[in-house]
Amino acid sequence: MPKYRLRCIGCGAEYSGSARLYSCPACGDLLDVVYELDDEVFKIPWLRNFESRPLGVWRYRELLPVEDLRRVVSMNEGGTRLIRCRNLERELGIKEVYVKYEGDNPTGSFKDRGMTVGVTKAVEAGAEMTICASTGNTSSSLAAYSARAGLGCAVLVPSKKIALGKLSQALIHGAKVLAVRGNFDDCLRIVRELSRDPRFYLLNSINPFRLEGQKTAAYEIYEQLGGDIPDYLMIPIGNAGNIVAYWKGFRDLKSLGMVDELPRLMGVQAEGACPIYRAFVEGANEIKPIENVETIATAIRIGNPVNWKRALRAVKETGGLVEAVSDEEILAAQRILASREGIFAEPAGASPIALLIRAARRGLIEHDSRVVCIVTGHGLKDPDIVLKSSGNLIEVDAEIDSILRALEMRDDYAADNSH
Ligand code: F0G
Repeated sequence: MPKYRLRCIGCGAEYSGSARLYSCPACGDLLDVVYELDDEVFKIPWLRNFESRPLGVWRYRELLPVEDLRRVVSMNEGGTRLIRCRNLERELGIKEVYVKYEGDNPTGSFKDRGMTVGVTKAVEAGAEMTICASTGNTSSSLAAYSARAGLGCAVLVPSKKIALGKLSQALIHGAKVLAVRGNFDDCLRIVRELSRDPRFYLLNSINPFRLEGQKTAAYEIYEQLGGDIPDYLMIPIGNAGNIVAYWKGFRDLKSLGMVDELPRLMGVQAEGACPIYRAFVEGANEIKPIENVETIATAIRIGNPVNWKRALRAVKETGGLVEAVSDEEILAAQRILASREGIFAEPAGASPIALLIRAARRGLIEHDSRVVCIVTGHGLKDPDIVLKSSGNLIEVDAEIDSILRALEMRDDYAADNSH
């Protein structure tokens, strides 16, 4: 298994990989996992040699920080579809558009990539109880993986602000679900505080091991594109961990000599919760947290994203950008993706499509571009939003006539049956 250690993203201090730390004891900044790769990894030649391993997180085990593969807590996460979207290509005039459909994961979101590694580390650490703050998907995923590992699990979610599907997942997997009268940022502040108590193992994205699992999506995209990368990667930003994970994954490919460039990382936030967008357009070096956040994309309803520093770096260093889209644009994008391509995304997962539509219309990307949009969560996570935003059901009598009338096809039917 690879040798690795933890390095502070602020002051550069290093710590043992087995230390149970969520932030740098010296300066308080976040920690990153760095590997001491031996020459074998570079010689493999990496990835192509792995034909016998299925596509998925553990295909890349040489670049994951676990001690003992036999203790891995897994449900075959990753290996999600990269779906070509030819109808969108035609409508938007963009040469290649793909969706990386993270709704294919075991609990229906990208979080499972991180949890298979994170909960494995909790088991290695001898933890009894996992804990997280969540806008929904992290709680579903942590509840499921903790159940599988036989660990207790407590999740803190903002009261009345998480989607129905996510809530029911956390409950059925047996987590203690605490609905906090406050927002996600309040929940995160509390679990960070609680995690000083060794009885709790914290699994938000400040846990450096979670992003290690999530970075594998970048490797998969490279393989699914036949050993190539997109020009642009459109990705939602909430707490900003996932964009950092992709950045890391693509940088790994570069340092392994497999690609020369990185994709431009194009982050998208909801207008009602966009502190990173604001810092980006103002050219500021720090974000200003937003107190009162609101968006129908509840997954990314976050005003004080903990991974903001690396997210801004990722965008700037790859020549990307951050945009903020309105709830109307998100709902329109969700409907367009579902009705043109048959792909059902939850609102946050549809936000990269909103960005794609905007970018195509405003000429922010070239017509001959290859774009990958990360659809981060399944549409069934949040059925309420569709029922609220769609037209009413049409109630009919149980007879042909009534149905044809409802379909406004009654006259044609009568004509067809007259001879
Ligand atoms: N998309 C979905 C569907 C999410 O659930 C999240 C985050 C994001 C995008 C943003 O990812 O935080 O890494 O920038 N959901 C977290 C949760 C916060 O608690 O489920 P990020």
